[in-house]
Amino acid sequence: MDKLIVTGGNPLKGEVTISGGKNAVLPAIAATILADNICEINSVPHLSDVDTINEVLTSLGAKVEFKDDVLTIDPRSINTYVAPYEYIQKMRASILILGPLLAKKGRAQVSAPGGCKIGSRPIDLHIKGLRALGAEIEIKDNYIEAKLEGRFKGNKIYLDFPSVGATEHIMMAAAMAEGTTIIENVAEEPEIVDLANFLNHLGANIRGAGTNMIKIEGVERLGKQMVRHAIIPDRIEAGSYMIAAAVCGGNVLLKNVIADHIKPVIAKLQEAGAEVRDEDGNLRVIGPQKLKAADIKTLPYPGFPTDMQSPFMSLMSIAEGECHITETIFENRLMHAQQLKRMGADITIEGNVAKVKGVPKLYGAKVMATDLRAGAGLIIAGLVAEGETEIYGVHHIDRGYENLLEKFRALGANIRREEITQEEYDEVE
Ligand code: UD1
Repeated sequence: MDKLIVTGGNPLKGEVTISGGKNAVLPAIAATILADNICEINSVPHLSDVDTINEVLTSLGAKVEFKDDVLTIDPRSINTYVAPYEYIQKMRASILILGPLLAKKGRAQVSAPGGCKIGSRPIDLHIKGLRALGAEIEIKDNYIEAKLEGRFKGNKIYLDFPSVGATEHIMMAAAMAEGTTIIENVAEEPEIVDLANFLNHLGANIRGAGTNMIKIEGVERLGKQMVRHAIIPDRIEAGSYMIAAAVCGGNVLLKNVIADHIKPVIAKLQEAGAEVRDEDGNLRVIGPQKLKAADIKTLPYPGFPTDMQSPFMSLMSIAEGECHITETIFENRLMHAQQLKRMGADITIEGNVAKVKGVPKLYGAKVMATDLRAGAGLIIAGLVAEGETEIYGVHHIDRGYENLLEKFRALGANIRREEITQEEYDEVE
């Protein structure tokens, strides 16, 4: 077990290259189960979440090789439909193997997923969608038992909420269904488009990804030949470095970033006084002398991403004025406010709204990363705080930021990692 120690005060300067997107690669890995041949995925980040889903595939019998940023998966040797509890528990996205396993094996036994503790995070929309496509699903004491007679059957499905995971899951299942599937009120995130592109490379017929309705003409087989696919850049990692640059008056050039995917973050950084400009397809962020308060409200894409809410709260903690941060996607995703208060932030929570009154300074403290993005927010706060900030719960951060220490250090941040004992961890929690 480790902690991160950030000594504040160094403005970030230089260049950072953004890795392939965590949230794009996880569903792509699950989708390889559907293929009849080897899949090569490029621009894959080295993250513990990627290791976890790779372990799930390996445990099913797939051959998985991960060298540099190239992941090669041969799903032809998959020989079981039972996914082990120990990996599924670690990560919510592992539920995405349920549909592909059903499509290929006609059966699946998967435990209910784990992941960040940011609300109850049900999977009812996933289950409803797969049932609408013909799966028989029983949920017994946190275990999901599913069966499919023949192939999935195309259907019309309306999602009660544009869930990212449910959209991806239903899209994968419908790709191999008999007939046409129309999914309405779907998520429009860039990761959905990337998954649709990957499935289409495998031979699927999916149209409309990136809009609120997706139409899928099912096909009998996917991935007849070996397929190569490159993952899109991680827009959340990009946004995190942009906010980190802005918080301490830095000047950072971000490479491998698609500005179109992070429009709301750019707009809000500009509203807060930062300069963000395109430089030959790269993005330069220059932090202002004095940050200004700016309200945000998290929304499904293309609204402000919930995963950027915690980093933005850190930024607002030292901005001039008062702002409201409204979380509408997850019901319990303001826990980091309590940790920022330990550092001197002035934040009041009322329901799903955090009222943040900017303070002139934050101070180093011992804080707990309660989830992945909360961890990113605390690093950002630590960069600007006076003194040392010790961040516990680093395993959450390892799930989503490739080479975090190296990248921050190359930008001039004073950040290190140290091993800790269970007692030290328990004291902070
Ligand atoms: C994905 C992202 C995560 C991001 C989130 C929202 C991955 C691996 N993770 O998570 O980083 O924070 O999108 O942008 O891509 N819901 C239901 N029933 C369901 C499914 C979801 O009620 O069956 C609810 C959830 O509880 C939550 C909301 O819908 O309140 C959004 O969840 P969803 O879009 O599904 O997020 P994930 O796919 O889990």
